[in-house]
Amino acid sequence: MNKIEKLKKERKDIIDSASKKIPKNTLIDEVILNNHNIYHTIISSIKEETNDTKTFTLTIDKESNTTMLPPFIPGQYITLYLTISDIPTSRAYSLSSSPNLSLKNEYEITVKRVEGGLVSNYMLDELKVGDKLDISNPSGNFGYNPVRDEKNVVAIAGGSGITPFMSLARAILEGMYDCNLTVFYSVKTYDDIIFRKEIEEINKKNKNVCFIITLTREEKDGFLHGHLNKEMIEPYIKEFNTILMCGPKSIYKTMNEILNEFNIPRKSVHYENFAVTYEPDEIKTYELKVIMNESTVTIPCKSNETLLVTMEKNKIKAPSLCRVGECGYCRSKLLVGKVKMIGASIERSLEDDGYIHPCVSYPDSDITLKLDI
Ligand code: FES
Repeated sequence: MNKIEKLKKERKDIIDSASKKIPKNTLIDEVILNNHNIYHTIISSIKEETNDTKTFTLTIDKESNTTMLPPFIPGQYITLYLTISDIPTSRAYSLSSSPNLSLKNEYEITVKRVEGGLVSNYMLDELKVGDKLDISNPSGNFGYNPVRDEKNVVAIAGGSGITPFMSLARAILEGMYDCNLTVFYSVKTYDDIIFRKEIEEINKKNKNVCFIITLTREEKDGFLHGHLNKEMIEPYIKEFNTILMCGPKSIYKTMNEILNEFNIPRKSVHYENFAVTYEPDEIKTYELKVIMNESTVTIPCKSNETLLVTMEKNKIKAPSLCRVGECGYCRSKLLVGKVKMIGASIERSLEDDGYIHPCVSYPDSDITLKLDI
């Protein structure tokens, strides 16, 4: 038997033996978070920023075994683990606070309402001071890196994409970094400006950090009007720049075209990744067989839903962290079937080895997946 035949046989044996173990009740509450650091926190304050955005301050839950919150750098995110209507799920949010706040064992995240958004809307509507939240340690590589980056930093933010740059602005003003930061911030109207009072104060007092706001659906004195364009940005582009972007994909596309005209090298441009949705021409239903430790479940899955979301909806607590295909924490072995991986920045060679990231994988056939735990 050659190597490939041997692998095929091994795979078949795994699937056959797993099939025999499928429990009658296919809803499994499998906890797969214990190989990752979980910090137990409590919401110590909630501040309304706009009519659809709130900042949550999290501090350690003294009744738990969490004794400290780890430090972070601006641009990093934490992942919240929640159960909403019996569905275990997670969401990553950029930290908006200064890194110095973590020295007091506090983090801040700023959450904006998302149309149809399960977690964001639950947080805005249901959570209150005193509620407990389990979170991950800070993760991610997006943000300013004083070793890699230039001192002239131009940040482009849209909507809630302002949060990592508020963290960076606060860090610069507290002396953590020696650089100049200009944040272009695009919002619909004056009332949509998150952190508005603080931004106004910073703009009055500081020279090395400034926010330039453009209102896309309103004209108002002191603000630019319309979508970000070349003329707005040109005066702030120096000979050497670092460009940071966080916002909707539409901003990335427009800005990339503009930055090309300025001949800014690609290595000087850094993006925060966001989940990309996928809408197939036709929504098909397939069968997803999930193998975990000693158990296997079989559940239906739809071609317009990621495998991670499908598992969560069926009460399987599959590993997740970034949910955008970047961190590799959800990495699982695709034993049978085909998927479309959308927007993942991971190395495609993973796919060749049979590994996929379920957080960005949409089924394109019946699937057998082995959670890599
Ligand atoms: S959760 Fe990060 S790659 Fe899937």
